[in-house]
Amino acid sequence: MSKIVITGGAGFIGSHIAEALVQDHEVVIVDNLDDYYPLALKQRNLDCVMAKGNATFIRGDITDLELVRSVIDDTVDFVYHEAAQAGVRISVEDPFKPNNANVTGTLNVLSVARDAGVKRVINASSSSVYGKVQYLPFDEKHPTQPVSPYGVSKLAAEHYCRVFYEVYGLPTVSLRYFTVYGPRMRPDLGISIFTRKMLANEPITIFGDGEQTRDFTYIDNIVKANLDLLKTSAADGYAMNVGGGHRITVNDLIAHIREITGSVSEVVYSDKQKGDAEHTLANVGLASELIGYKPETTIGDGLRTYVMWHRQGVKP
Ligand SMILES: NC(=O)c1ccc[n+]([C@@H]2O[C@H](COP(=O)([O-])OP(=O)(O)OC[C@H]3O[C@@H](n4cnc5c(N)ncnc54)[C@H](O)[C@@H]3O)[C@@H](O)[C@H]2O)c1
Repeated sequence: MSKIVITGGAGFIGSHIAEALVQDHEVVIVDNLDDYYPLALKQRNLDCVMAKGNATFIRGDITDLELVRSVIDDTVDFVYHEAAQAGVRISVEDPFKPNNANVTGTLNVLSVARDAGVKRVINASSSSVYGKVQYLPFDEKHPTQPVSPYGVSKLAAEHYCRVFYEVYGLPTVSLRYFTVYGPRMRPDLGISIFTRKMLANEPITIFGDGEQTRDFTYIDNIVKANLDLLKTSAADGYAMNVGGGHRITVNDLIAHIREITGSVSEVVYSDKQKGDAEHTLANVGLASELIGYKPETTIGDGLRTYVMWHRQGVKP
C-alpha cells in the first residue's frame, strides 16, 4: 500500500483516479473546491470516492505553500497533480487565475515533493500545449505554440516538471490529456453541454462551423494511464500524449449524440471563440512504447455509456 496525494481530487479526472486507488492505497485529496463550476458536483465526486473506500479530504489551495507543505510530507509516496484552473475560455477572460493555480501551484507541488522525497509526481498536462497545428497527428516533437493563456500555463507547468526531474532528480511525468469525457465530466465541456441540451431537446450552439475536430478520450483510458505510472519509471522526465487516437468533427459528434438520444434539438451556429484550438489529434506512439498505453474505448461506446449515465438521472 502506498500513500498517494491527489491534488484536484474533487474534480472530474482527479476523483476518478482517487476512486480507482482508494481500495488499495492510502489516498489524500487536496482541493480548494473552487467555484468554477457548482460545488454540489464536486461534493458528488467526493461522495463517489468515499463510497469506494476511505480517503482523507483536505480543503486547501495549492497556491498556499504552507498548506502544500502540510499535505505532502515524507510519508507520501506518489502525487497525482490534477488541480488546475481548467478551461480555455475562462483563461482568455482572466489569464491571472490559471497562471496562479497552474504555474505557481505546480511549482509549489514540485518543490515540496522534491523536499519530501516523493517517488513520482504525475502531472496532468493538456493537448492545449500544442496550439497552432503544423501537422497532425500531434506527436511530442510537434512545436508547442499554445493559442490560449490556459495552454501557456499548462506548458509552463510541464517545463517545470521536466526541469525538476533534470535538475533535482525528482521523477515526474506529464500526461497530455486530449479532451477527456465520461461520467462526472466537467459541465463546461462540449460533450456535457450538448448531451444535457439534447436530452432536453433544447437548441444547442456550436461555435464556428462545426468542422473543427477533436480527439476525445474516454475517462477510463486516462485513469489507466495514470495508474500504470505507479509501476514504472520508464516515462520519468517525459511529457507524453494520452489521447483517443481518433478525431471527429463537432458536427459528427452532435450526429452521434443525436443518434444515441433521438434528440430533435436545433443546432445554432455562432462565432468562433477566442483561444479555441482548430484541431487536435494525438499520436499515442510514445505512451504506447513507454507504458503500453492503448485507448480501448471508442467514441461510440464512450458516448453511449455517458448518455446512459445521464439517463440514470445523475446530476451532470
Ligand atoms: N478534462 C479535460 O478534458 C482535460 C484536458 C486536458 C487537461 N486537463 C487537465 O486535467 C486536470 C483535471 O481536469 P478536470 O477536467 O478534472 O478539471 P476539474 O476542474 O474538474 O478539476 C480540477 C480540480 O482542481 C481544483 N482546483 C483548482 N484550483 C485549485 C487550487 N488552486 N488549489 C487546489 N485545488 C484547485 C478544483 O476545485 C477542481 O476540483 C487539470 O489539470 C486540467 O488542466 C483536463
